[in-house]
Parts: sequence; C-alpha cells; structure tokens
Amino acid sequence: MSKLVAGNWKMFGNKAMIADIKKIDQYCKEKTCEVAICPPFPLISAAHEQTKNIKIGAQNCHININGAHTGEVSAEMLIEVGAQLILVGHSERRQDNYETNDIVKLKSEAVHRAGATAVVCIGETLEERTADKTLSVLQEQMLKSLPKNITPINTVVAYEPVWAIGTGLVPETDQIRSAHAFIRGFLASTYGAEAHSVKILYGGSVKGSNAKEIFSISNVNGALVGGASLKSDDFIEIIKAASNSI
Ligand code: PGA
Repeated sequence: MSKLVAGNWKMFGNKAMIADIKKIDQYCKEKTCEVAICPPFPLISAAHEQTKNIKIGAQNCHININGAHTGEVSAEMLIEVGAQLILVGHSERRQDNYETNDIVKLKSEAVHRAGATAVVCIGETLEERTADKTLSVLQEQMLKSLPKNITPINTVVAYEPVWAIGTGLVPETDQIRSAHAFIRGFLASTYGAEAHSVKILYGGSVKGSNAKEIFSISNVNGALVGGASLKSDDFIEIIKAASNSI
C-alpha cells in the first residue's frame, strides 16, 4: 500500500509559510506516496487553494455540526474550506484539553459523518512503557476511541509514543515493529479483512535521517511528522524516503 506522510504543524505557521506548502506541493508532482499537511485552522483555506498534489488537513474538530459552542469548529466547516483529513486524539490534546477516549471516539465519528478521514492518534507514555503496559494501553485506546465502521478510506491510525514526540527520542526498531503488529492484529480481528488496508502511521521525532529505517518496518504505512514538517526541505526528505520505500 502507498505510504502517507502527514505533517502536523501544531500551533506554528503563518501566511508566509503557504510558500513552503506550495514548494512541497510542487515537489509532490513526482512523488509516489500520499502527502498531507495539517496547518492551524486559519491557514487551511489558503493552503487548499494553493495545492493540487497534496491533501490539506486539520488538527482537531468539535463533535457537533454546529451550535452554541464558542470558539469551536466542526468537521463540516473544515471540509468546506478544504480539509480532507482531521487529526483526532493527538496526545497533546488528550493532555492539554483533557480529551478522553470517549471524546476521541465522538470526534472520529464526527469526522466520518462529515465525510473526511479521521487520523486517530494513540500511544503510551514513558511511565506506561516502563511499567510494561504499552500493548494494554494501545488496546484500551483502540477499543474505546475507534468508532464502529472504520474503513481504509475513513480512518488512519497513528501510533505516537508520547515520550517520542518532540524529544528526538525514537523507539527501537523492534519496539515500533511490535506496536504496529499489535495494532494491525487488533484492527484485523475487530474489523475484518478490510482492516488490513487501514494505514498505520508512526509518529514521534521522525526526520529525514531516520525516515528510511522507520519506513522499512513492517506495518508502518507512513508517518505523522511534527517538527520536521515545518521546514519544507526537511519534510521533502521524509517524502523522498517514503516514495523510495514502496
Ligand atoms: P514530532 O511530533 O515529529 O515533532 O515528534 C509528532 C507529532 O506530534 O505528531
């Protein structure tokens, strides 16, 4: 299956950086993997208008279509301005905004209702890994935060060990392999044969220098990239590695 490289800009970026998105889009004329960038909400529309070869996404949405929810944005609104995929349950939102698995599930359902792809993020903390709880944490997160009818079109799962995000620490190859194999097994036993084609991304300190090795691990179908997605040259290195790994 073709790999997906998705950039998560978090709360970084400004209008001038649409030029970086255009540069990445130009590069992607030639690429053989899928590429997405999730900038902050105010940049989605311009990013969408300036791109042809990559998808634009969002980093969060509300569970409802509309309503008296000051400061919130619905999946439908995001799609209208060009978002095709929406991150849900990123660990920063689970921590900073107290998003539980139940909320993540409702948000995933909202993304499906709107007709976009939900990129559902899961991952253990260092404390949980040290206590040998990684797989049970992943299982609980998948059981509780993935909605019923997931398909390779409407859902991507992103495995992001919390301790690897923004730290420069990357798990051992075997640790990534076993987490991804576990996630694949869970998806296949819960959702059936179609789940073999649901993409599972790895996220956490992915860079041009480690992307090739990460993409060679079985059941790693792409990457969710934070810091290295903010510089077009760095992100293009990762796109190159994904294109070459097919
Ligand atoms: P990072 O972030 O690549 O900067 O570690 C990944 C993420 O938060 O999705």
